[in-house]
Amino acid sequence: MMTATVKLASRVRRLGYVLAFCFLAQVLWDVPGTWALNNGLARTPTMGWLHWERFMCNVDCQEDPDSCISEKLFRQIAELMASDGWKDAGYEYLCIDDCWMAPKRDSQGRLQADPKRFPGGIRRLADYVHSKGLKLGIYADVGNKTCAGFPGSFGYYDIDAKTFAEWGVDLLKFDGCYCDSIKHLADGYKRMSLALNRTGRSIVYSCEWPLYMQPLFKPNYTEIREYCNHWRNFADIYDSWQSIKNILDWTSSNQEKIIPVAGPGGWNDPDMLVIGNFGLSWNQQVTQMALWAIMAAPLLMSNDLRHISPEAKALLQDKDVIAINQDPLGKQGYRLRKDNNFEVWERPLLNLAWAVAMVNLQEIGGPRAYTISLTSLGQGLGCNPDCLITQLLPVKRKLGFHEWTSSLKIQINPTGTVLLRLEKANLTSLKNFH
Ligand code: GAL
Repeated sequence: MMTATVKLASRVRRLGYVLAFCFLAQVLWDVPGTWALNNGLARTPTMGWLHWERFMCNVDCQEDPDSCISEKLFRQIAELMASDGWKDAGYEYLCIDDCWMAPKRDSQGRLQADPKRFPGGIRRLADYVHSKGLKLGIYADVGNKTCAGFPGSFGYYDIDAKTFAEWGVDLLKFDGCYCDSIKHLADGYKRMSLALNRTGRSIVYSCEWPLYMQPLFKPNYTEIREYCNHWRNFADIYDSWQSIKNILDWTSSNQEKIIPVAGPGGWNDPDMLVIGNFGLSWNQQVTQMALWAIMAAPLLMSNDLRHISPEAKALLQDKDVIAINQDPLGKQGYRLRKDNNFEVWERPLLNLAWAVAMVNLQEIGGPRAYTISLTSLGQGLGCNPDCLITQLLPVKRKLGFHEWTSSLKIQINPTGTVLLRLEKANLTSLKNFH
């Protein structure tokens, strides 16, 4: 009996080594990088704040002085990002979306900020944002107009890139409205990328190129990655659970296409974090945070940092979850399984660690138990031959030492997620664990 167990254990171990080798070979084989946009930026997903989902195109500073798109709003958010732990947690880019512009270019053809709402112009705002140790993002459009109808950059790519660089802008979100043709769209995104590079300033380039090609054309992600630091694939996020579900469904249905292309320098962008707003329950906010970490998504919050609950703030600033999002290996996770209204997602991390997210999609009843066998995680290697497991969300707790052949039973709230981190159990980690 004893010899049989030993033999089985050694066979299991051998199988483990073979799997480990295959996995390592795969990781080394498809590390993207050499063919990413060569601007040295976004080596991990961009983190920051973007005004669109929460503040939209509110230009009425008379009626709504506290929430209109204005210098004042961005200065207040900058101040809070620096003073309330956001910057320290990694949220660095403060980004302006549509509706910052004056309705017309200036006499020299340059874009200009609306003089009433941005009395000091973008230059003064950039200086202020930089003085807080943050970076400034701006918005423009590849076509004839922005989506909200302000001047588009078509025919002005070089002038606009130079203007942004002179102002001290650090990120450009380039939208895709009002393009005459697919050629205009593709040429425009490429030309703006090259124009930004020529300015010599480090400017993260955030695209919506694939979103505007679909469903009529198939995006060439290899090419898109050569020009953009991140790219939106899917419709705008809303402050609702339905919207989060749609984004997750689109991502998992297209994962074979979009995951291999993500990595340091270039990321799939499932759109803003809406945590801290009105539409998501606590469990749904946990789900968004966990899954955006698994998806290696840019973490661009769109909320009101002046009015945010301590719970939402703690969730958004959770350093263990952010560490998964920012993992230096830069491999995007994927959906491993969907069954009985549960989904299991996983993501490989540095040092052969894994993140695993289990979502309970059933919207009736109470918490449900999901039992997962550890052999099925991390392509057979997540817990091979054993591992230490820490639950990170919804609350942090150590789940201890586990063997490959064991299984884990986890309770998950309706529309909530349990996020785990699996680590190899070596001597040091064992010591730190206890
Ligand atoms: C949309 C874009 C949004 C926002 C908006 C501004 O097309 O996807 O994220 O930028 O335009 O008008």
